[in-house]
Amino acid sequence: EKRHVVTLEINGARKTVAVEARRLLVHLIREDLSLTGTHVGCDTSQCGACTVELDGQAVKSCTILAVMADGRSINTIEGLSTPAVPLDPMQAAFHEHHALQCGFCTPGMVMSARQILRDHVKPSETEIRQGLGGNICRCTGYNNIVRAVGSVASREQKA
Ligand code: FES
Ligand code: FES
Repeated sequence: EKRHVVTLEINGARKTVAVEARRLLVHLIREDLSLTGTHVGCDTSQCGACTVELDGQAVKSCTILAVMADGRSINTIEGLSTPAVPLDPMQAAFHEHHALQCGFCTPGMVMSARQILRDHVKPSETEIRQGLGGNICRCTGYNNIVRAVGSVASREQKA
């Protein structure tokens, strides 16, 4: 099958990959680029485990064709940590508030949580729950996740 060349910036690095037209962005990320922190938890666009940032906006990478990422910039969970700061503030808050158990949903949750803070200066609990509405967690019952997001929001308020 004909392949299409896709050049994108991922976690600050420029990459070029040749993909089939039907390849999904999540597979480009996980298989072609070996960034397996982005998960696949469903085949119905419901779980949110595949959430990444595309040009700074959270998207479900299983709903986007890899070719659509050509010329664009992507952040995955791997892009949030640096050797100096291994956990970004949202990841640290998840850790602190016990907002994960098995951790399968966590990369997508963190990406959606960051989006909530871009969308709302001071998100209410309802806005946080709505913002996480596209992400499914089978383990935590969500309350600690909501607390974690709320703690980052109020900390940023004070800063
Ligand atoms: Fe993308 Fe479930 S894998 S929403
Ligand atoms: Fe297990 Fe969310 S921590 S699915």
